[in-house]
Parts: sequence; structure tokens; C-alpha cells
Amino acid sequence: MAGKVAIFRVPAQITFGSGAAETVGTEAKRLGATRAMVVSDPNLQKLGVTDRILDSLAAQGIGTSVFTELEFEPSAGSVAPAAAAVREARCDLVVGLGGGTTLDTAKAVAMLMRNDGLVEDYLGIGLVKQRGVASILMPTTAGTGAEITPNALFLVPAVREKKAVVSPHIIPDIAMVDPLLTHTVAPTVTAATGMDALSHAVEAYTSLNASPLTDLYALEAIRLIGAHLRTAVANGNDEAAREGMARASMYAGIAIGNAGTNIVHALAYPLQGQHRVTHGIANSLLLPYGMEFNALSNLPKFAAVAEALGEPIAGLSPRTAAARSAEACRLLSMDVGIPQRLREVGIKAEDLPALADGAMKVTRLLANNPRQVRPEDARALFEKAL
Ligand SMILES: [Fe+2]
Repeated sequence: MAGKVAIFRVPAQITFGSGAAETVGTEAKRLGATRAMVVSDPNLQKLGVTDRILDSLAAQGIGTSVFTELEFEPSAGSVAPAAAAVREARCDLVVGLGGGTTLDTAKAVAMLMRNDGLVEDYLGIGLVKQRGVASILMPTTAGTGAEITPNALFLVPAVREKKAVVSPHIIPDIAMVDPLLTHTVAPTVTAATGMDALSHAVEAYTSLNASPLTDLYALEAIRLIGAHLRTAVANGNDEAAREGMARASMYAGIAIGNAGTNIVHALAYPLQGQHRVTHGIANSLLLPYGMEFNALSNLPKFAAVAEALGEPIAGLSPRTAAARSAEACRLLSMDVGIPQRLREVGIKAEDLPALADGAMKVTRLLANNPRQVRPEDARALFEKAL
């Protein structure tokens, strides 16, 4: 069979490395910005991180404003006040500084400066008409890859669902990844966001939309997470571990930005929408079960995942080697202290039908899954994970 045609998109510039954040002012100036809105969170402001970014911008003569009134795991409605603040301050640059929540809000806000209406009007694939004002995204957690991807996710409370704006127009101008920004992240958040990144890498690697280009990044992300997540959780000041995880998260972002996620993120969405389980925990809980279900679709790729996570697979049958991949993920999530069962996060047997129904609605992701998912499969997966 001939190879598929694959499109590969990343931000126009990626700035990576310890100290990268110090370059935000000069890069903003190069982009032609005169007034910047820094979208951040109160905790980073308290730690003085936001001020350092503001100083770097001000040193280049760029006017600054700050918006920090963000919801955790934001609803679509929460974007409007941030967009109003940017409009009022007449900003021509949005700098997102924070975790996935913050970066997704920053993407939506930049987009709304040049696209009429509310973020709710753009929930779906390819609905954004044009690029927004310039944007620089600076992640302070190693997990979401939001600084890279064409997606921004929001909770829609009325239907208890997470929905996404998906458009190449919301890929930022610059992804600025500074591992030093992640050193103060608490071990529990490091663990959950790291497992989210692992889920991105595994799902992208085994997605129907995977290509040789995305496989490079996905497999290396898996290897980096296997090598560094435990240390990053154990000792947040370990520079090599933090840098490894920052790189892994970015690589996994490149992989999902082009190959997408599939069954794990699809099943995790209703856990977030219906029960407010956080994104990283929801994905981590479901990852081994999704992998066990999907392994049948491509034994060599799942065996490669096991190998990238450090499992010795030489001499094993393809089936056994593939099965080791889910087991390695389970061990990793146990080691970093993540719940292993849905019941540990308050889910009950009577919740499962609604969860399965919710997952089957995430057709955008299920379409990428390498094994066809029927409603009874979703139900059985949730039962196993309970
Ligand atoms: Fe994710």
C-alpha cells in the first residue's frame, strides 16, 4: 500500500532550554508587539514568575497588562472576561504563562481578537476564520503540550462535556519552553501532567493518523517519560529530569498536534465533564485499559512502546511484548502515586452507562482509534477500570 499523505504543523518557532523565558521580551519585539497581555494564574504571580516575564517585556519598551482570573479546567464562558480585558487594553500580543488551562485560554483570547463572537462559536473542527493577534505560549507544567497543539479545550457546563476549538489558526507564533519554569510544580501535579503526556505520546504513536513524522516525536517522548518522570516526581529540582519531561511534553504535543489522541482521551472526557476528575488523572487511570484494548491492532507498535519504556522484550512473542506496554504504564503511574481505579476517584457502578455514552460522543477522537470502539466496548472498559 502506498504511504498516506500527511500534514505536519508546528509553531513557526520553538524556543527550548533552561533560560528560554528570559528571551520573551526580545522575541515579542521581533514579532512587532507594542502592547502585551500576559495570561497567567495567581500562584505564578505570587511566586514572582509573572513579574519576571513582565520585566522582560517592559525592558524592550512593550506595554503590559496581566489577566489571572482563570478557572481551573476552564469553562467556555470563562474566556469572555479575558478576551474583554485584551480588547480593552488594545493588546497586539498575548503571552500565555501557565499550565494547559492558561495556555488554552490564551489561545482562545488571541484568536477572538480577530474573529467575531464568543469562543462557543468556534467549538469544533476548522471553524476559526483567521489567525488572531500574535501569541507566545510558555508552559509551566510538563504535560499538556498546549504550547504546540491546534487545540483549546473548554468545559461546556450545560451539556457536562469538554469540547475543543481545533484549528491551525490557533497554533501559537512561538512555543517558548523553559524547563526552569517547571521546578516549583508539586509532585502530584508533576505526576498527573507527566502521565497525560505519556497518554498523548502512546495514543499519537498508535493513532490511525500517525505518520513517520509523528512517530519520531511520539516514541522519543515515551522514552523520555520512562527515563525521567519518576525522578521529576521524587525530586522537583533535578534539572535533567525536569528538562527531560519538558522536552517529552513538547514532543508529545507535536505528536498529538498532528496525529491526535484516541480511545484514552475519549473515555477520559466524560470523567472530566460529568465528575470533574482532573485531565491528567482521568487519562492516567484509563491509559493501561485503553492500551490493552488497542494492542490487538498493532502488536509491533505496542511492543515498541514497551521497549521505549525500558521493558526487556527480546525473545518475547509479539503478543507478550505488546502486553508489556500497558503493564509498564501501570507500574509507572503506581510509582508516581496516581489512583489506579475509577472507584478511588469516587466513580460508582451506576455511573458507568452515562460515562460510556459520553465517551461514544467523542467521535473526533474515536475516529483515530486503531481498533473500532463499539458502545459495549466502552462500557466494558469502564467496568474493567472501576
Ligand atoms: Fe491530554
